[in-house]
Amino acid sequence: MNETSSGTPLLEARGIRKVFSRSDGELVVLDSCDFILESGQAIAVVGESGSGKSTFLNILGALDHSTSGMVLHQGKRLEFRDRSVVDQWRRQEVGFVFQSHMLLPDFTALENLLLPARRMGPVNAEIRQRAHDFLDTMGLKARADHLPGELSGGEQQRIAVARAFMNKPSIVLADEPFGNLDQKIGGHLGEMLFGLRDKEGTSLVIVTHDMHLAEQADRIMKLEHGNLVSVEDVST
Ligand SMILES: Nc1ncnc2c1ncn2[C@@H]1O[C@H](COP(=O)(O)OP(=O)(O)OP(=O)(O)O)[C@@H](O)[C@H]1O
Ligand SMILES: [Mg+2]
Repeated sequence: MNETSSGTPLLEARGIRKVFSRSDGELVVLDSCDFILESGQAIAVVGESGSGKSTFLNILGALDHSTSGMVLHQGKRLEFRDRSVVDQWRRQEVGFVFQSHMLLPDFTALENLLLPARRMGPVNAEIRQRAHDFLDTMGLKARADHLPGELSGGEQQRIAVARAFMNKPSIVLADEPFGNLDQKIGGHLGEMLFGLRDKEGTSLVIVTHDMHLAEQADRIMKLEHGNLVSVEDVST
């Protein structure tokens, strides 16, 4: 899935529809969403609570699949027939940051950072160095051997941000990554996230309620009534 040709977007979603079936009826969360992410681009996705932002992000990252429509990476459609292929694609190409840090409590900060690399194979000196460099960049050099429980909420989330970049993914998907932090710390971590994205040349999709954070992206899109629209097109 690594071949790319010029003019092909890094990630594309076409006509994404998602319907949740429940005993009391069907819920159409996404109606027909089209989305194009270019290499190195950052797009913020905003929208009311319950508008389907997390659902959409999970579909982009192949954590969930759509009812209809398709996701293409470098022009190639993600196929769910073989789970192991899509899982391998996700481990290599996508980094995730969630609202809660999702660090393993019994692993040190350094070991948590090394987890994505361990899933790909043996951890060599270069990978270990990369993890130490990230700790340094995030101002957590002295915390390598600390357990998550010994770190503050902001420090835990800094590890989670760095971890998303460990495997040199082409795309980082962040779902309300600083929603649990106060505004000042969240703002600081936002700068770190965008700084890492610049340094690594990674594409970023960030779901956020925070317009200050959203405005740091190259483009803002809004989910409303099951569709994605550019904010310039939003009349409200
Ligand atoms: N597995 C599921 N089964 C049924 N309904 C679901 C399921 N997952 C999500 N939903 C519904 O889909 C809608 C969109 O949920 P989603 O979590 O994507 O919203 P969101 O925009 O991320 O909201 P928030 O800003 O509160 O995180 C909600 O109405 C939710 O209740
Ligand atoms: Mg959500």
